[in-house]
Amino acid sequence: MSVRLVVLVSGSGTNLQALLDAAADDAFGAAVVAVGADRTGIEGLARAERAGVPTFVERVGDHPTRDEWDEGLAGRIAEHKPDLVVSAGFMKILGPRVLGAFPVVNTHPALLPAFPGAHAVRDALAYGVRVTGCTVHLVDAGVDTGPVIAQEAVPVREGDDEESLHERIKTVERRLLVETVGRMAREGWTLTGRTVRLGTGRVAGQAADGPTPGRITK
Ligand code: GRF
Repeated sequence: MSVRLVVLVSGSGTNLQALLDAAADDAFGAAVVAVGADRTGIEGLARAERAGVPTFVERVGDHPTRDEWDEGLAGRIAEHKPDLVVSAGFMKILGPRVLGAFPVVNTHPALLPAFPGAHAVRDALAYGVRVTGCTVHLVDAGVDTGPVIAQEAVPVREGDDEESLHERIKTVERRLLVETVGRMAREGWTLTGRTVRLGTGRVAGQAADGPTPGRITK
């Protein structure tokens, strides 16, 4: 029995690929049951198709309002009954319908709360930091403000540009995302205040009524 993941992408989908590769082994404890996107014609969707995973596209521009897009996206995700949604390079802010219905994990290419937003790598370089990194966090209503689950540092090298630094961060990011999602699936997790604890929930496969990947307490 494995935890059902819906992965959301907007681009090249290398983080998605890392999850697909990890999930090929049953011992990972989670399966990618669908991949959703906010645009067509991206490599992320092609990766899903090659892996035989169902895909869906929900474009903001196809809805009269952002709220209706949020509702549409929540409906498309719900069709696949995920235990956990993973935003892996999904370049849209998720709305209350999606966030109210499913726990969502995001991967971000900076050490939050430093450099939130869509240009984290560029912003870190412009600031002149010597160390940046990546963050896996639960998504809340803010922009990259949700509770941190895991972080790893990546040094900035002399002569780095946005592309070289981002590629080095992404190498770490893919491993951290796979490790973190795998632990959440296998060991469970809880959120208390802003503290995420791994290894505190029921282990996937042990529950009589199906896996319980996470729990939010006050
Ligand atoms: C990742 O660095 C992610 O954190 C950022 O966009 C990148 C997506 O890469 N938001 P990919 O599509 O998984 O290759």
